Amino acid sequence: MDKKIAVMGSGYVGLVAGTCLADLGAQVTLFDVDEEKVAQLRRGKIPIYEPGLEDILSPAVESGNLNFTTNEAEALTGQDGIIIAVGTPKRADGSCDIQYVLSAAEMIGANIESDTVVINKSTVPVGTGELVYKQVNSALEERSDTEAKVEVVSNPEFLREGSAVGDFMEPDRVIVGSEDGSACDFTAELYSSLDCPVLKTGLRTAEMIKYASNAFLATKISFINEISNVCEMVGADVVEVAEGMGLDHRINRDFLGAGIGYGGSCFPKDTEALVEIAGQAGYQSQILNSVIGVNHAQRKRFARKIVSTLPEEEDLQVGALGVAFKPETDDMREAPSIDIIHDLQAEGIEVSAYDPIAMENARQVIRDVDWAESPEEALRGMDALILFTEWDEFLELDYKKVKEWLKRPVIFDGRNCLPMEELIEMGFDYYGVGRGIDRLDEILSYRYLFAEPKEKD
Ligand SMILES: NC(=O)c1ccc[n+]([C@@H]2O[C@H](COP(=O)([O-])OP(=O)(O)OC[C@H]3O[C@@H](n4cnc5c(N)ncnc54)[C@H](O)[C@@H]3O)[C@@H](O)[C@H]2O)c1
Repeated sequence: MDKKIAVMGSGYVGLVAGTCLADLGAQVTLFDVDEEKVAQLRRGKIPIYEPGLEDILSPAVESGNLNFTTNEAEALTGQDGIIIAVGTPKRADGSCDIQYVLSAAEMIGANIESDTVVINKSTVPVGTGELVYKQVNSALEERSDTEAKVEVVSNPEFLREGSAVGDFMEPDRVIVGSEDGSACDFTAELYSSLDCPVLKTGLRTAEMIKYASNAFLATKISFINEISNVCEMVGADVVEVAEGMGLDHRINRDFLGAGIGYGGSCFPKDTEALVEIAGQAGYQSQILNSVIGVNHAQRKRFARKIVSTLPEEEDLQVGALGVAFKPETDDMREAPSIDIIHDLQAEGIEVSAYDPIAMENARQVIRDVDWAESPEEALRGMDALILFTEWDEFLELDYKKVKEWLKRPVIFDGRNCLPMEELIEMGFDYYGVGRGIDRLDEILSYRYLFAEPKEKD
């Protein structure tokens, strides 16, 4: 591939996309306004934890295909395409803040000197691509030194933190949306060596595909979490329920793991943004509001389960394994552990915690935790083990030893990932999510089957 590409934003998406495109043969300049981040990258230090990234980043730098800069003009002139991959955080009202995208667009208009394809990878409300086009053009109009033109393409990114490199290199699909056919073709060519379908759509449709996809996945998670709550009440096991459901190819097993709800930088922000987008357009989303509500309640429910299960004693202490919203990432944005730990602390329970890589970021967002250097240090003398993140390291622990470390052999498994039967056999009190065993006596009374029919209003 002989294309020259600038990537604006060297965060999770920009850094991975830029490095992967350089690996595929493009000449990539990664540009970020964060000087410290760029300085780190220049020193060969990757500012995020992302498995496999280092393996392709160093060779890409050495081959001359990848370089980093904070200089706008150096980054943005002479490129065939410019990818926007800046943050689109949530505003206080849940809507999506596109200020960084628009300021990137302004920089493009202020710097390009020849026709350029502007490719937006940031997740943005439907219609933002047209605003980007306007913003670039209004900056271009202020200049008399260029006749450069742009076309805007929406090329949403679907990579997941923790498996981002593999997701980028082996995507299920690539979406390119634009009103300009040749800009669509240009963007599609960036991915021509990958073995995946490329769907070409209009600009707005591509922007909507990203939100609809994330909202659907969040819906699957909240759906199975709601089913897990019913399972708990009626004595069914949600792990087996999900397995039975998932064998139906129309349903599929993915994203049917019940637990403490979704977190991270995308699902919470994107579901809320879609509710706002729909609302602004005059449509009140019923499903998505429920999805968000169930997700929020799931964290509260787990904290309540811990508080109501542990004895009413003063000086209770629990040890948490994992705090990131999922394994293989140090991203703490909207991790369920934050709310749950703060709820436990509000009940007077002290928390110690260990995470293989997310503790540095976690210290910024979780108060008053005793951070430990190992699982043993986090669990020794504790009244219970709470598992928030299903890191392999925790699945591989010797639970005979764990039982010796703990003061009480109690486990709250927020991810249903530990071997329940084995742990119960070893003498643990095990509480998962949606597995019913903690209320067996009540369930076996069959009361819910014989309840009097309610009078209708
Ligand atoms: N993180 C994910 O897993 C993921 C997956 C798919 C899509 N997305 C979307 O991709 C976008 C980026 O997400 P992220 O997680 O990489 O964000 P991030 O916060 O990790 O990185 C954003 C970067 O953009 C830089 N930046 C801000 N303004 C800039 C400008 N004008 N020019 C150059 N750089 C600028 C920031 O300094 C920061 O380094 C968001 O819209 C997000 O919703 C994220």
